[in-house]
Amino acid sequence: MLGKARKLSALGALAGVLVLACTGLAATARAASEARYVGSEVCKECHEEQYARFTKYSKKAHSFKSVLALKKGLSEGELKKCYECHTTGYNQPGGFRSESETPALKNAGCEVCHGPGSLHQESQDPKDIRAKLSAKQCESCHNAERVGAFRFRPLLFGGAH
Ligand code: HEC
Ligand code: HEC
Ligand code: HEC
Ligand code: HEC
Repeated sequence: MLGKARKLSALGALAGVLVLACTGLAATARAASEARYVGSEVCKECHEEQYARFTKYSKKAHSFKSVLALKKGLSEGELKKCYECHTTGYNQPGGFRSESETPALKNAGCEVCHGPGSLHQESQDPKDIRAKLSAKQCESCHNAERVGAFRFRPLLFGGAH
């Protein structure tokens, strides 16, 4: 009897976790679908320290240069592939389109980790921006193919600010 009760409560807990996980996902999806990319310069106004450290120390802040350095000889299609990781929000609503159309988004900026920031910029509400990060947020660009041993924990703060 006891065993069964335990199993049931374990199932209950699992269901709870799943519901929480799904609500979380739905909330993230909603925020992401409404918020648009604004570029790191906009964050500077209120997060001067993070902006200064990021601009000085993070390679992301200059990632478009890396693409330009190897641009010669690349086809248009190959170049677009680079944009997926070296710019902010390429192929996503309000994200990078081209250097001339969206210059503020040409490097991989704050929002590649924190998500699009237009809602947060207006509300200044921490709920409107992604703060809790996990390795998932890095893997779209730092994939196994590209980085042999991407070790999330030691790198988490190294690549940010
Ligand atoms: C007009 C001011 C303003 C702008 C612009 C702004 N923020 Fe914020 N941000 C705040 C305030 C206020 C808070 C909450 C107080 C605090 O923790 O400093 C905050 C908190 C945060 C947090 C922490 C959230 C948490 O849950 O602890 C992150 C991450 C963040 N902002 C990222 C950004 C990014 C990325 C941008 C640019 C896209 C940005 N902010 C633009 C005002 C701003
Ligand atoms: C949109 C793609 C993208 C995402 C998402 C992303 N990165 Fe990066 N990251 C890059 C690119 C591109 C570079 C290299 C820039 C260059 O050298 O041109 C880089 C460089 C780095 C570096 C090298 C050191 C440095 O000074 O920049 C670290 C560490 C790093 N990222 C950590 C992370 C972590 C941790 C996450 C997740 C929280 C993450 N990145 C998410 C694209 C991304
Ligand atoms: C899947 C994501 C991804 C794509 C696509 C991608 N890069 Fe990168 N690139 C990264 C990451 C992450 C780093 C930094 C970490 C590393 O060295 O593995 C990086 C590093 C670089 C560097 C080295 C910069 C330095 O300081 O050492 C150059 C140059 C570069 N990329 C150019 C390109 C070009 C050109 C393209 C398109 C042909 C491209 N990348 C496509 C993710 C990507
Ligand atoms: C490589 C991913 C990455 C990038 C790019 C990045 N951040 Fe962060 N950010 C983080 C991580 C990781 C934390 C710590 C989250 C935690 O405490 O769990 C953080 C925390 C913050 C916080 C909360 C206060 C603090 O310093 O811990 C603010 C504000 C913030 N970031 C703003 C910015 C701004 C502004 C930019 C661009 C100039 C930026 N971030 C770029 C990963 C990133």
